[in-house]
Amino acid sequence: MSDYVTLTINGSNIRVPKGTNVLDAALEYGICIPHLCHMSDLTPIGACRLCIVEVVENGKSEVTASCTLEAKEGMTILAHTDKILKARKNIAEMLVAEAPNSRAIQDVAVRCGVTEVRFPFRNKNCVLCGRCIRVCSEVWQANALGFVGRGKDRHVALPFHNRPEFCKRCWSCLEVCPMTITPCDGPMKEGEEYFCGKCESQLTMALGSIDTCVQCRLGAGFGCLRAEPEK
Ligand code: SF4
Ligand code: SF4
Ligand code: FES
Repeated sequence: MSDYVTLTINGSNIRVPKGTNVLDAALEYGICIPHLCHMSDLTPIGACRLCIVEVVENGKSEVTASCTLEAKEGMTILAHTDKILKARKNIAEMLVAEAPNSRAIQDVAVRCGVTEVRFPFRNKNCVLCGRCIRVCSEVWQANALGFVGRGKDRHVALPFHNRPEFCKRCWSCLEVCPMTITPCDGPMKEGEEYFCGKCESQLTMALGSIDTCVQCRLGAGFGCLRAEPEK
């Protein structure tokens, strides 16, 4: 029995090892599906929903997150239909409203076609992507971070709010956090919910280029081969 499966993504035949998720399969073949919470090689948690795709079966389609979807033989995936682009743009817009000072989120939002934000800015310092927690537990086996609380009180915390002895001081949690990649200090005030585009982010360059790589920095070092800066 083959250890590989073949599926189609946007009409292209993709062959990947069994167990690969659809998002990683797409990225491996240079098909950019915007994503935020996912990190290749770590357990996907499907938190941000940016990576949604349509799975087509028997003439019907279902929208689902691609990072938590295992690639199966004969699967048909559509990653950039009008329906997906619209839904993904809304999700990205909401993420920017949550954390407008994250340049990484701004850039990934631009890749989803967001040019303005219709929702009030909430200026959160965490979007609950869980990247820090998973890198801590799965790469460093430290388990020094975890989600605490429910609903609007949910947040990332150290045990008893103190850095424990078993924290390895590797700072990987900071490196992978989309909030810490060159934060934006642009407009974040009520009534100024827009992208100023004055910083060095890829915002202005990317206008009108939905689905093209804007080097959102969620790729560089984070697993998206297409997003690596040119040498
Ligand atoms: S610095 Fe500590 S909390 Fe952060 S990833 Fe490393 S071990 Fe985990
Ligand atoms: S602290 Fe950063 S990496 Fe951790 S969940 Fe929040 S946004 Fe994600
Ligand atoms: S990257 Fe798939 S849900 Fe976040």
